[in-house]
Amino acid sequence: MLSREDNDLLTRVGPGTGMGQLMRRFWMPVLLSREIAEPDCTPVRVRLLGEPLIAFRDTEGRVGVVDEHCPHRQSSLFFGRNEDCGIRCVYHGWKFDVDGNCTDMPSEPPDSNFKSKVKLTAYPTRELGGVVWAYMGPPEKMGEPPHFEWMHLPAEQQYASRWNQDCNYAQCVEGEIDSAHVSFLHSLVNKRDSNKAALAGAYFAGDRAPKWKVVDTDYGMVLGARRLTEDGQFYWRMNQWYFPFYTMIAPVPGEARSFRMWVPSDDTHTSIICVSYRPDGNVSEREIAGWRRGLSQHAAVIPGTLTPVANRSNNYLIDREMQRTETYSGIIGVRAQDAAMVESAGPIVDRTREHLGTSDTAVIRMRRLLLGAAKALQNGQEPVAATNGGLYAVRSHSTMISEDGDFDAYPEIMAAMRV
Ligand code: FES
Ligand SMILES: [Fe+2]
Repeated sequence: MLSREDNDLLTRVGPGTGMGQLMRRFWMPVLLSREIAEPDCTPVRVRLLGEPLIAFRDTEGRVGVVDEHCPHRQSSLFFGRNEDCGIRCVYHGWKFDVDGNCTDMPSEPPDSNFKSKVKLTAYPTRELGGVVWAYMGPPEKMGEPPHFEWMHLPAEQQYASRWNQDCNYAQCVEGEIDSAHVSFLHSLVNKRDSNKAALAGAYFAGDRAPKWKVVDTDYGMVLGARRLTEDGQFYWRMNQWYFPFYTMIAPVPGEARSFRMWVPSDDTHTSIICVSYRPDGNVSEREIAGWRRGLSQHAAVIPGTLTPVANRSNNYLIDREMQRTETYSGIIGVRAQDAAMVESAGPIVDRTREHLGTSDTAVIRMRRLLLGAAKALQNGQEPVAATNGGLYAVRSHSTMISEDGDFDAYPEIMAAMRV
């Protein structure tokens, strides 16, 4: 449970809010590079932290992430002409480069210097790992983007997708780090009755009340959940949460790793970018086909949109017969199952009404870390991770041990999480 003040602080991300200011100290993932693949491509509307923006690639390949609204009379630059190294508003022809400079103002007399006085808000950008990043904070506080493992891998070893969810970012992240729900929401009705019950799935079904151990780090936290196996061993899954909204769930043995970014579009919408990758080899065509169909780590979207096929308007295509006989939820696809739970809690969860148990340990800790960092920033203390990209070179891990110790007591487990 949170007070109303803390719930507001956690969830409101617009300009001038406490969490909005904290997030603006970090580089923000905007969209996939392939969404603006070609020079002079069609501009793409994006919302970030409550701000309406457009992203485009200019004639020389440089990326602009700028205010959607033309500084002249506020019409949308989405309709603009992306040509000759700039985006030109089609209302009166004013033109802006990727840095927001007005480079042409044909509606004013040739001897006017008005164009030198007009600027379009433009944020610094980078392209790393097939993702466009923007920095929306004070220029003097700009740090470096995080160094995630997948950013340095060749394209054949990864697959990325993006989709939208209609709720606040914090409940999306809470749904991700809450390891306890896996034993229910993503489970089968008859756990022995399917080849889908992979190794880890059997453990989830066997011990539905895992023991938690959460360890704070400079970049966020490691959240370990321990389950007892039928042969008396201890199965540990260590998931990662990184400031301010990144997660990496422990991989199931043999499967690709998946990393997710839960980027607040505004207070009630979230843009999700998921990267699945194999550090030691290529991802297969078969894997990519499954991801495209929304079977596991990625969501299948309605073609030409970022809206999942299974969404709130169609009750996530729940099949009640399947729910009776095959799967716990009756909803196909892990992403759709998660989305159904977090979106159905409302656009912004009212955390004054909830009742948290021991299985919510990681959820509680994440809130505390985010709220603490936002309050610290209000008191002048900068977030350490925002300027130390190297802190992010860590990954999730899962392992079996025979003794009843906490995972962080084992140097080899801690070492396995460093990239
Ligand atoms: S509104 Fe854009 S040029 Fe006039
Ligand atoms: Fe889930």
